[in-house]
Amino acid sequence: MRFTERVVVVTGGGGTGLGSSLAHHFAAEGARVAVVDADEDAARAVASAVRADGGRALAVRTDVRREDDVDAMVDTVIGEFGRIDVLVNNAFTSNPAPILEARFEDWVRDIDVVLNGTFLCSQRVLRGMIGRRKGAIVNISSVNAHTHVGASSYSAAKAGVEALTRNLAVEHAPYGIRANAVVPGTFRTDVWKARQRIDPDILDRLASFYPLGRVGTTDDIAAAVLFLASDDASWITGALLPVDGGLLAGNPQFAWQAHPENPVVRP
Ligand SMILES: NC(=O)c1ccc[n+]([C@@H]2O[C@H](COP(=O)([O-])OP(=O)(O)OC[C@H]3O[C@@H](n4cnc5c(N)ncnc54)[C@H](O)[C@@H]3O)[C@@H](O)[C@H]2O)c1
Repeated sequence: MRFTERVVVVTGGGGTGLGSSLAHHFAAEGARVAVVDADEDAARAVASAVRADGGRALAVRTDVRREDDVDAMVDTVIGEFGRIDVLVNNAFTSNPAPILEARFEDWVRDIDVVLNGTFLCSQRVLRGMIGRRKGAIVNISSVNAHTHVGASSYSAAKAGVEALTRNLAVEHAPYGIRANAVVPGTFRTDVWKARQRIDPDILDRLASFYPLGRVGTTDDIAAAVLFLASDDASWITGALLPVDGGLLAGNPQFAWQAHPENPVVRP
């Protein structure tokens, strides 16, 4: 139980993918969890499910792009639970349009939710953490920040989140506050399930690009998030941890084409 009595805010916590998985994992380790989401019904559903499992959770409707919403969220969580020990910036939107066809308003929305939302939630939560000289922030990035997988606005926003993570880490290290990011590759969520209904083989095809031979699960990503948020990572700050089955380490298909004589690299 690494989070007994700790207060954890998960933005995008109402999501059926990583958001709800994080809420359940933190609660299972003793945390009091604020499930923060722009979709109030979704936040409530996840908070109720956590409570039904014996955990403690509070749903807070918040659009992470709005200063007044984020300020009210911080006040609500501190009012209910007394403080915030851990912030996970997980909320996101992503439009897949190619650059020439992208609508500017969609570009702005992705930058706003992913990058500006991470800045805003971090800044407002930090103000309380600084006073207590303790806290951990974990940002959810993506392999899109490192290599082209499409979705230019989302990718640029995630790259911004990684730069921001380093600033958060170094500026607040003197206060005992750590900031890190996980860099997930493809992991199974309802969004991928919906894609599988029209393209049943999609995740199998993607798996062939992953050195470890499979796509991830929300449990894979949550394990890394909880580690970075916990005291087990007390001397880790400013780190970007790939949780990607080796995708960013190299491409087995490419290596095989380049060196077909080497059976070790055969995918
Ligand atoms: N699924 C993948 O394959 C994958 C791969 C790499 C990275 N990621 C990252 O993992 C994280 C979780 O992804 P997921 O697919 O599990 O999503 P999720 O199920 O955790 O849902 C995300 C939630 O964000 C909420 N949200 C959207 N805009 C918001 C706003 N303005 N304010 C507050 N909440 C808002 C949505 O309502 C949704 O409930 C994201 O940061 C995503 O970029 C996902």
